[in-house]
Amino acid sequence: MAERVYVFDTTLRDGEQSPGATMNLDEKIRMARQLETLGVDIIEAGFPIASQGDFEAVQAIAAAVEKPQIAGLCRAVTGDIDRCWEAIKEARHPRIHVFLATSEIHMKHKLGKTGDEVIVMIDKAVRHARQYTENVEFSAEDASRSDWDFLVKVCETAIEAGANVVNVPDTVGYTQPFEYYDMVKYLMDNVSNVDKAVISVHCHNDLGSAVANSLAAIRAGARQVECTVLGIGERAGNAALEDVVMALNTRKELYGVETGIVTEQIFPSCRRLSQIIGMPIPPNKAIVGANAFAHESGVHQDGVLKNRLTYEIMTPASIGLTNNEIVIGKHSGSHAVRKKAEELGYSLDEDQVNVLFKAVKDLADKKEQVFDEDVEALILESVYRRKDRFRLVDMSVFSGTGDVPPHAATVMEFGAEGEAEVKRTSNFGEGSIDAVFHSIYSLVGVSPKLESYTVNAVTEGSDALAGVAVRIEHDGVKAVGRANDGDVVKASALAMVNALNRLEKAKEEK
Ligand code: KIV
Ligand code: ZN
Repeated sequence: MAERVYVFDTTLRDGEQSPGATMNLDEKIRMARQLETLGVDIIEAGFPIASQGDFEAVQAIAAAVEKPQIAGLCRAVTGDIDRCWEAIKEARHPRIHVFLATSEIHMKHKLGKTGDEVIVMIDKAVRHARQYTENVEFSAEDASRSDWDFLVKVCETAIEAGANVVNVPDTVGYTQPFEYYDMVKYLMDNVSNVDKAVISVHCHNDLGSAVANSLAAIRAGARQVECTVLGIGERAGNAALEDVVMALNTRKELYGVETGIVTEQIFPSCRRLSQIIGMPIPPNKAIVGANAFAHESGVHQDGVLKNRLTYEIMTPASIGLTNNEIVIGKHSGSHAVRKKAEELGYSLDEDQVNVLFKAVKDLADKKEQVFDEDVEALILESVYRRKDRFRLVDMSVFSGTGDVPPHAATVMEFGAEGEAEVKRTSNFGEGSIDAVFHSIYSLVGVSPKLESYTVNAVTEGSDALAGVAVRIEHDGVKAVGRANDGDVVKASALAMVNALNRLEKAKEEK
């Protein structure tokens, strides 16, 4: 029997710290449900002390999913631990995840503590967490830059105090596979009570080594791997779940371990996250990028036609890339639309099916082929999107190359539908999108800083939906807005209106 490696998914915590990956409560719950279907063992749902929004999200995820353990992150102080427990206590399988830095540089400059003081804090924090649950993970932040013998003491203290998982993260993405292997092996050989806990790894991708480091650590004996879908996360991101899992699966004879991941749910999970956060999957992304199974060169194509194994080390079907059976078009009925939604992993009620059916019909009138990505974009846009307080009613833009600068006229409504106040204005801009944005700013009465603007075609073809994501900042509060539309200027305007609605909400919560 192959040994089990536990998959700890932190898409909703470390992943959400990735610039532009902010999710609202409903989006987090939808992603958590997909992670459950994917078969992850642990979902890190958030950092409850960070904000009221985080607390509520962790609480809601704890109530929404059944099988996976739900972890909440907290610093090694009692107030944090108490708040974390409050958020996760209703979960079927709660886990408190306590962390404290253990490298010289962090202890001295960040914490202002000596090694001995840190050891006392670890002991106290883990014992405090153990009063609530037997499922306590301790993370030695910046472990990969910590002194190995000190790290042995850290692990022994945490395990002695009751931690059943000890995580040794490469917090700054600094280590290299053979070094990390040696470090984990050193811990396996020298931590006297290592048999009473699972050693876990958590790698960041600053040097592009997160997946390789995670695999090296598993080879050295780590039996929990912390990762995120699509590798999103703080700075350059975390180890990508899909890469780690498919490496372990494809090279089973090398690693001799197995996970509980349903690999056929890998692609649907990546697509769902990409749609929710409005971040396209890069075409050359390992495992799930559009080119991952595309053979361009003649020699490769010839080989694959003769025998797929010549150039294919895994099948598209093994990650859930299948030729779906239901084709959606102009003439599809609501039954087919419901089935398609189910095929994509969404179970919709009657009202939601009706909303989606109408949106699909509208799109099919404008677009030759409606792809799965289109249907998923419509589900997120028309079925799940929260009602905005102010909405775009109409717009027209002028874009030219002559003396008249680009300008836009915009009509918006404010307040509840039916009794909303309608306002209109027009503005010039550097380009048509800039002009629309400025007219929206003047109607809403806010001039945010536009931190990022991305546009991508949801599918192929010049009639493809344009998916736009904007990130704005105002008075120290950030918000992300997303929208899809066949017209890129309209998609941009809708994304900006969405971002401004979210900004207002975020300010209220603050
Ligand atoms: O990177 C890191 O060290 C972390 C810990 C909080 C686990 O995210
Ligand atoms: Zn991290």
